[in-house]
Amino acid sequence: MWKKLLCLALGLALGISFLDDFDPDVLKGKKVVITGASTGIGEQIAYQFAKFGADVFITSRRDNVLQQVTDKCRSIGHPDGKYLHLAADMSNMSSTEEVIKEASARLGGIDILVLNHILKINMATWEGSAANLTLLDKIFDVNFKSYIHLSSHALPHLQTSRGSIVVISSIAGKMGLPALSMYSATKFALNGFFGSLRQEFHTKGCGISITLCTIGMIGTENAMSQMSDYGVQDVWKWFPPAQPEEAALAIVKGGVQRFREVFFPYFQTKPVALLRDWIPGILDAFNAFIYSN
Ligand SMILES: NC(=O)c1ccc[n+]([C@@H]2O[C@H](COP(=O)([O-])OP(=O)(O)OC[C@H]3O[C@@H](n4cnc5c(N)ncnc54)[C@H](OP(=O)(O)O)[C@@H]3O)[C@@H](O)[C@H]2O)c1
Ligand SMILES: *[C@@H]1O[C@H](CO)[C@@H](O)[C@H](O)[C@H]1NC(C)=O
Ligand SMILES: *[C@@H]1O[C@H](CO)[C@@H](O)[C@H](O)[C@H]1NC(C)=O
Repeated sequence: MWKKLLCLALGLALGISFLDDFDPDVLKGKKVVITGASTGIGEQIAYQFAKFGADVFITSRRDNVLQQVTDKCRSIGHPDGKYLHLAADMSNMSSTEEVIKEASARLGGIDILVLNHILKINMATWEGSAANLTLLDKIFDVNFKSYIHLSSHALPHLQTSRGSIVVISSIAGKMGLPALSMYSATKFALNGFFGSLRQEFHTKGCGISITLCTIGMIGTENAMSQMSDYGVQDVWKWFPPAQPEEAALAIVKGGVQRFREVFFPYFQTKPVALLRDWIPGILDAFNAFIYSN
């Protein structure tokens, strides 16, 4: 019985791995815009696109760090590839327009828009204080509203190219997680907005794909330090963090193949997304257990 189940599971896993018909050649000369690309997963997404021959335009607030990332893109990309950057603060909605204007002008259009940046905040419980409420506006501006502004300004370009929007969300966008209430809320909001938009695009037949990425524990510097500052690094025993470059590759592949959703790491995120409505109490108890250890 167990042997049969094991064979079935292995067969399925093997089958799924063969389903990957990602063709890196389609990325040659594609015009890609990536936000939050100075560090972490966004930085690695830039390297993946450069490696596959795409032209890359990256943005975040720190000009000098972006410069280093574009230099590295140039060293791994094509000699005649374009590797450009612009420093901009995504809490300022006028800057979102500036980013898209500049990117589309310098790349000569936009094929893929990868929305990835987030406001850096500490993990903390919600106390309902004035400080908490002030932060609420800021985090919704950076993590949510700017995503909508960026996509809206990019829409004409994406319509022309019949391109793609790739939204980096989180397992916290499928289930509320302790000490991440506001972050979680912004990710739920992204799933709601871009889920609606995908259906509208489909109905209109405008040819723009939307890929929502549900990301689990990834070992970026910021994520790691936030968790250890809050004292929940024991979670890593249950969910060992995956490498940012692996996450980036999964995101790039899913976006290029115009998948509705990407789950990465798959077996850490997909089961939670499926089980949250079936056994919410058990998931809550599990969270309470790992967050209190
Ligand atoms: N790491 C994980 O475990 C994990 C898990 C689930 C989901 N995710 C998602 O994956 C994505 C990337 O996460 P990460 O861990 O790689 O993050 P990260 O290393 O902290 O990178 C965040 C990026 O956003 C930029 N940024 C911050 N504030 C900004 C602002 N006001 N305006 C413009 N850019 C700003 C930062 O650059 P500057 O400082 O130069 O502005 C940086 O490039 C996020 O959407 C996150 O929610 C990550
Ligand atoms: C927002 O950005 C615009 C243009 O990018 C700039 O003119 C304006 O001063 C910025 N606002 C703030 C509050 O920084
Ligand atoms: C809420 O505010 C309190 C104090 O005002 C602070 O200790 C806590 O870290 C804040 N929580 C969040 C989620 O910002």
